[in-house]
Amino acid sequence: MKVEIHGVPPQGKIKKFYELLKKNKKYVIGLMSGTSVDGIDAAVVEITGHSLETTVDLIAFETFPFPPDVPQRILALCQPDTSRVDDICEMNFYIGHLFAEAVKHILQENGIHASDIDLIGSHGQTIHHLPGDPNTDCKDSRYPSTLQIGEPAVIAHETGIPTIADFRVADMAAGGQGAPLVSYPDYLLFHDSLKTVGLLNIGGIANLTVLPANGSFDSVSAADTGPGNMCVDAVVSEITDGKERYDKAGQRAAQGTPYQPLIDEWLKHPFFQMTPPKTTGREMFGHTFAMECLAACRKHSLVDNDCIATLTELTVQTVALYISQFVAEQNPIDILYVSGGGVHNQTIMQGLNEALVDTAVEPVDNSGISADAKESIAFAILANESLHGQTGNLPSATGASVRKILGKFVCP
Ligand SMILES: Nc1ncnc2c1ncn2[C@@H]1O[C@H](COP(=O)(O)OP(=O)(O)O)[C@@H](O)[C@H]1O
Ligand SMILES: [Mg+2]
Repeated sequence: MKVEIHGVPPQGKIKKFYELLKKNKKYVIGLMSGTSVDGIDAAVVEITGHSLETTVDLIAFETFPFPPDVPQRILALCQPDTSRVDDICEMNFYIGHLFAEAVKHILQENGIHASDIDLIGSHGQTIHHLPGDPNTDCKDSRYPSTLQIGEPAVIAHETGIPTIADFRVADMAAGGQGAPLVSYPDYLLFHDSLKTVGLLNIGGIANLTVLPANGSFDSVSAADTGPGNMCVDAVVSEITDGKERYDKAGQRAAQGTPYQPLIDEWLKHPFFQMTPPKTTGREMFGHTFAMECLAACRKHSLVDNDCIATLTELTVQTVALYISQFVAEQNPIDILYVSGGGVHNQTIMQGLNEALVDTAVEPVDNSGISADAKESIAFAILANESLHGQTGNLPSATGASVRKILGKFVCP
């Protein structure tokens, strides 16, 4: 019997993906929750075209804080000594439900109907990241792996919208670090024929993409530079007994004085000597590291705001160190656009301006892209690329052996 495969039009809900290919303009929702575990970022984005022809227009953006008990439950999953397999199983679905709720809320608040949305791109919530690195002291003997939860089948079912999710694993399967994945959207939106552009996202961890002037995809470099807000948040929370979760506008740090001998000590951490591509996470710079730093500060009799200033300055100096070690000589950055929650920390922004004398340091909002929404916009773009069969990782940025189409496709 001859089985006809070619030429059969797609049937059922899978048709939704195929039909989208005919549309030049699409409405895509990007969903993201970062290592800070501060909430779910949802961006409704109008995307025209794909690949180098991509243009984006942000229609709506909101961060939906997690229900009060959820951040603690997620953080417990991140740590081997407090994580349980039944909790991971449950939270994968529950976080998926919360992502779906975020979609429903942002649509309702902006008078948009779910049927007007073509696609969701969901990053999920990282609970563990073991990138490994065969070349350094940071070597982790475990099989390279990463785990983002927030079940896309739940998101697609509860919203009725085709969903592409779990983008990092394809890159890591091909030997990459699985991050930073924003480098490709960064290239699409920011590459410039005359200027070398840096894109620094200061979330829980800070990552930097460098786009050399008039460079190709292969010229892009990227890496995590180290802790962004993660250690500052942990220390602020500890010092205030959980009453404050972060240093609002960097005011506490501004009132303190960084203690440089300790920063010099911390900069000896092997991660900061590793050559890129490199990524890190809560496993390396999470609560344990932050509490060790706080204990060291106390040993030197630093008062509260001096401790916070010292950890804040560590973020600034690790970015500056990475740039001087790995970027400045070959590709001096003309303009550094900063995004992520760290853009609101004036002490970090001022510190970067002072440390990077030859570079203009500006919030990415100055380029027309919202600093808070940039990461979630990036996952909307990555979903659109995957839909069109385009690869979304840059091997020069992640270390993967090949370019890959990222994500898993789920029908509603
Ligand atoms: N107004 C503010 N002042 C100082 N820091 C802020 C402010 N708003 C947010 N942040 C910092 O940004 C973090 C959240 O940043 P985000 O980009 O969402 O990180 P992630 O991607 O890791 O979730 C918060 O935990 C906090 O440290
Ligand atoms: Mg966040």
